[in-house]
Amino acid sequence: MPYSWSTLLAVFICIQGFYTLSYPHFRNHIRSAQNGLQFEQIFLDSGTNYTLSSYLRDLTLHSHLAGTQPALQTKQYVEAHFKDLGLETHTVEFEPLLSYPVHASLSVHYRDGSSEDLRLTELGQEGRVVMPYHAYSPSGSAFAKAVFVNYGRDEDYLALAALGVNVSGFIVIARRGEELSRGKVVEKAAEKGAVAVLMYTEGVTSGGVERGTVMGELGDPLTPGWASVHGGEKLGLEEREVRERLPKIPSVPISAENAETILRSLEGPRLPYEWGMDTLRSKIDSVGPGSTFLNFTYQEEKKMVTIYNIFAVIRGWEEPDRYVLLGNHRDAWTYGAVDPNSGTAALLDIARRYALLIRSGWTPRRTIVLCSWDAEEFGMVGSTEWVEQNLLNLGYKAVVYLNVDCAVQGQGFFAQSTPQLDNLLMEVTKKVKDPDSEGMVVYETWAATDGGINIQRLSGVDSDFAPFLQHAGIPSVDLYYGKDFSVYHTAFDSYDRMTQLDPSFHRHVAVAGIWGLLALQLADDPILPFDYLSYAAQLQEHANSLSYLLGYGTSVHPITTSIQQLAAAAKQMEVEAKKFKKQETIDDLSKLKRRSLNDRLMLAERGFLDEVGLQGRPWFKHLVYGPPNDYESNLVFFPGVANAITQATRMPKRDGLLAIQHEIWRVARAIQRAADAIKGEVI
Ligand SMILES: *[C@@H]1O[C@H](CO)[C@@H](O)[C@H](O)[C@H]1NC(C)=O
Ligand SMILES: *[C@@H]1O[C@H](CO)[C@@H](O)[C@H](O)[C@H]1NC(C)=O
Ligand SMILES: *[C@@H]1O[C@H](CO)[C@@H](O)[C@H](O)[C@H]1NC(C)=O
Repeated sequence: MPYSWSTLLAVFICIQGFYTLSYPHFRNHIRSAQNGLQFEQIFLDSGTNYTLSSYLRDLTLHSHLAGTQPALQTKQYVEAHFKDLGLETHTVEFEPLLSYPVHASLSVHYRDGSSEDLRLTELGQEGRVVMPYHAYSPSGSAFAKAVFVNYGRDEDYLALAALGVNVSGFIVIARRGEELSRGKVVEKAAEKGAVAVLMYTEGVTSGGVERGTVMGELGDPLTPGWASVHGGEKLGLEEREVRERLPKIPSVPISAENAETILRSLEGPRLPYEWGMDTLRSKIDSVGPGSTFLNFTYQEEKKMVTIYNIFAVIRGWEEPDRYVLLGNHRDAWTYGAVDPNSGTAALLDIARRYALLIRSGWTPRRTIVLCSWDAEEFGMVGSTEWVEQNLLNLGYKAVVYLNVDCAVQGQGFFAQSTPQLDNLLMEVTKKVKDPDSEGMVVYETWAATDGGINIQRLSGVDSDFAPFLQHAGIPSVDLYYGKDFSVYHTAFDSYDRMTQLDPSFHRHVAVAGIWGLLALQLADDPILPFDYLSYAAQLQEHANSLSYLLGYGTSVHPITTSIQQLAAAAKQMEVEAKKFKKQETIDDLSKLKRRSLNDRLMLAERGFLDEVGLQGRPWFKHLVYGPPNDYESNLVFFPGVANAITQATRMPKRDGLLAIQHEIWRVARAIQRAADAIKGEVI
C-alpha cells in the first residue's frame, strides 16, 4: 500500500503544523480543552507497530550491560533518536561502583572418586554476553558439601533445623522465590554460616541462567544517600556502611539442569513435604548433605565506571516548573529484548509521537521529561543517583513518575500504582485498543480477567519507581503486559524471542498508548487528575487488613482517624476543583489559585514520607509503601508496621505490642500530614 493512513496523517499534521507556526492566535486557540482531545486522538492514531519493532531490533543487536563498551552504542542510539526528533536532550553522568565477573568454576566430586565439571555459561552464548553472575558477589572459593535450603527463608532454615541439618560450613543451593530478593537469600545464608550460595530458577528456559544483583540496597554502594558524581565524595570499600551493603559470601546463579545434578546426589533427611511440588521434587529425595563435595570458585572485579542517564525534555507553557516524568531503564544483562528494551522501544515511540504533536501545534501545560536510566540491573543505580542529586527540586516540582520496565512479557495487562492514580489509569485504558481482542479496548479485557481489575501497590524495589516513590514520595505508576517470562535475565532474552511473545508488536503499541496518554493527561489537565478519595478508600482497606491480622491488643484506631481526615480533605478538594474545571480562559488570580490547588494535590503524597524512615533502612522514607525487611507479616503496605510485627515475635509480649503501636502512630501521623497537605492551611 503506497499511501498508508499514517502517511496521510503525517501530511495532514505537517500542513497543520505550518498553519500553527504562521498564525499565533490559532496557536492559542488550539490550547482549548477541545483541542486537547484532538491531540489525544492524534497521539492514539499515530501508534505504529513497525516503528516499535524496528526500535527494538536496533536496541537488541548486541548485549549492552551497563558500563561496558557496547552499552555506549545503545546510549548513542537513544540520544540520537531524541535529538533527531528535535527534542531538547540532556545526558547526565554518574560514576558508581559496578561489579563484573572474571572467572567462575564449579565441579562435583562424588563418593566413588569421580568428578564432573559443571558448565556455568549458557551454551553457544560464551563471549557474546556476560557469563551468568551475581553482581557484587565477593570473590571466594569453597570446597564443601552441599545442602538444599528451598527458598532460603527463615522458615526454610527452621524446617532444616527440625531435621537436624545445620548449614554452617556448607555450600547452600537455593531456588529463587518471590518473597526474598537474591541479596536477602545470600544474607540469610551467610548469617547461618554457609560458605557460598548457588541459586537456580525454576521454569527458566532450558539452559538459561538468571543473572542478577545481590546488593541489598539501592544506588551506588559508595555513596549511600547522595549522588555519585565525578570527583564527589565516595566511601572506601572497607567502611562499615559499604561493607553492610555488600554480600559477605560468594554466590553464582546456576542452571536448573546443574542444580538437578547436584541435588540428586544429596543424602541425609528427606525433603520436607511443605517444600512443594516443583518440577525437581520428584527427582530429589534428600536435603543433604551427602558424601558429594562441591569445588566452587568465583572471581569478580569491582570497577568505578561512568553511566549515562539520558533525558528528553518538552517544556510546559503554563507550568514549566512542574514535571511529568516517564522513565525506563536502558541497560540490560544481555540483549534485553523484554527486559528492559520493550519499554525503551515504547519510550522512543512516545518521543516520536510527541514530536508529531509538537509539529501540529501542541505544547504541554506542564513539562514532560522522558528518562532513559542506566545501570538499573545493579540496583536502580542510574535513577537512584539522579533522584538523590535532585531530591529538593523533585520534591516540590515533580507531579508524577510513570515507569515502564519490561513492557511486554506476554499476554494480559498489569499495572501497579499509588491509589490516587487508579481512576486515571482505568479511564486511559478505555481509550486504548486491546492488542489481543478485535474491537475491544484494554479496559474491557482487563476488567474481564479473573477477579477483575486488580491494581497492585508499589512496595517492591524491583524497578526505577522505587527511588521516586519510596525515597522522594512522588506518585508513581508501573505498567506491563504479561508476567513471568521464562528468559528473564538470560542470554535468550533476544529480539527473536520477542517475536514469539508479541508476534505483531501490538502489545507494544498498547503499552506505549497507555503510558503516553497517561502522561498527556497529567501534563495537560488544568487540574491534576489525582483522586485522594480513592487513596483514602485503599488506606482504609489496608487498615482493615491490619486490624484483622493484629486481633485484640493493638488498635489501628489512630490510622482510621487520620484516614477520615484525609477523606474529608479530599471531598472538600473535589468541591474546590469543580469550580476550576471547564474554565479555560481565566484571569491571573484564578490561575494562581488553580496552581495552589494543584500543588496541594501534588504534595499530598509527600506527606507519607517520614524524616526518620524505616527502622534499620532510613533511606526508605515512605511509610505506606515500601519494602518490609521480611515477608513473614505478609503485608504489602505499612512496611514499618510489618517490620514491627516480625520483630515483636522475638520480644517480650508487652514490648512487642508497644513497638507495633508506635509504628501505627507513625503511619497515622503520615496520613494526617497528607490530609493537611490537601487542606493546604496551617490554621
Ligand atoms: C551450627 O554449627 C555451627 C558450627 O559448628 C555452630 O557454631 C552453630 O551454633 C550451629 N547452629 C545451630 C543452630 O545449632
Ligand atoms: C578447586 O578448583 C580450583 C579451580 O579450578 C582448583 O584450583 C583447585 O585445585 C580445586 N580444589 C580441589 C580440592 O579440587
Ligand atoms: C504490524 O501489524 C500488522 C497487522 O496486524 C501485521 O501484518 C504486521 O506484520 C505487523 N508488523 C510488525 C513489524 O510486526
